[in-house]
Amino acid sequence: MSTSSQQPHPAPQSSRPSPSGPLTVAVLGTGIMGAGMARSLAAAGHRVRAWNRTADRARPLAEYGVAVVEDPLEAVRDADAVVTMLLDGPAVLAVMRDGVRVMRQDAVWAQCSTVGPRAQRELAELAAGSGLLFLDAPVLGTRKPAETGQLTVLAAGSEAALAAAGPVFDAIGQRTVRVAGEPADGPASALKLVLNSWVLALNNATGEVMALAKALGVDPDRFFEAVDGGAMDVPYLRMKAQAIRSGDFAPSFTVEGALKDARLIAAAAEGAGVRLDLAEAGVERLGRAAAAGHGSEDMAAAYFASFTR
Ligand SMILES: NC(=O)c1ccc[n+]([C@@H]2O[C@H](COP(=O)([O-])OP(=O)(O)OC[C@H]3O[C@@H](n4cnc5c(N)ncnc54)[C@H](OP(=O)(O)O)[C@@H]3O)[C@@H](O)[C@H]2O)c1
Repeated sequence: MSTSSQQPHPAPQSSRPSPSGPLTVAVLGTGIMGAGMARSLAAAGHRVRAWNRTADRARPLAEYGVAVVEDPLEAVRDADAVVTMLLDGPAVLAVMRDGVRVMRQDAVWAQCSTVGPRAQRELAELAAGSGLLFLDAPVLGTRKPAETGQLTVLAAGSEAALAAAGPVFDAIGQRTVRVAGEPADGPASALKLVLNSWVLALNNATGEVMALAKALGVDPDRFFEAVDGGAMDVPYLRMKAQAIRSGDFAPSFTVEGALKDARLIAAAAEGAGVRLDLAEAGVERLGRAAAAGHGSEDMAAAYFASFTR
């Protein structure tokens, strides 16, 4: 596992052996990210069982050697590792409340969905109640990196949990960033919210730049010519502006998903006593785009919020 860490690794907390050879991995949730991760795991030689609430969305994974199952309990029973990649905390809790009861005692649960530190605590406690290894393990990267095993995994947990999930993270990620702290405190989930506050700010600012240019009759090409190669020119601006200009809003990350994260960021900031004006504006802006029917489009479609009341 390629890792970079925030602090020296703590002493091992368990004598469980590190896994060798292919693992049986359950992937719960085969949306944009979970489907890509299941494919990467299968491509790395693991035995992958995937479950999705809407079964039709999971079935195409069979082409990639993934066993698609109809019942989440069937997916997790006897698995070496369970990866949850569902929309939010309540969805993960609903599925794993029973899932933890049938998981093998030495199995590891990598909770990769973006749920924020508060919900992650509830999930960590659920795992602890069943004596399971648990990792606070959100990921950075979107559809393409998920499909090609190029995600960045942010991971907090015991040495034993990290060792057990090592082959999983090697398959889905190019890098694992070790985050210090107890998984029940959600330190990696906190880092994920910090990262997404930056991503959402870039996305929403790009939409506003494009909307303002349109409203003022400014040719976007002149804007890009002016910033070309300078400090104001970032790849994310180019990528999201291209989606807006081409009208291709095929989702890498949906408006609904971004709205969920904007709310998590605003709530976490409020809970921590810090004021984030942009995050609150992001909730309003993404919410307006979703209400206007763009919820399942790429978050670049927040652009349309500039043209609704
Ligand atoms: N897309 C990205 O760029 C990205 C990057 C990093 C992290 N993430 C995080 O990864 C997670 C998944 O994101 P995604 O982009 O793959 O989203 P997505 O394509 O919208 O998929 C969401 C998944 O959650 C399932 N789900 C939603 N509500 C559920 C419920 N109540 N019970 C059971 N299953 C439920 C969906 O099932 P159905 O198919 O039945 O609706 C689907 O499998 C989210 O936490 C997201 O924030 C996303």
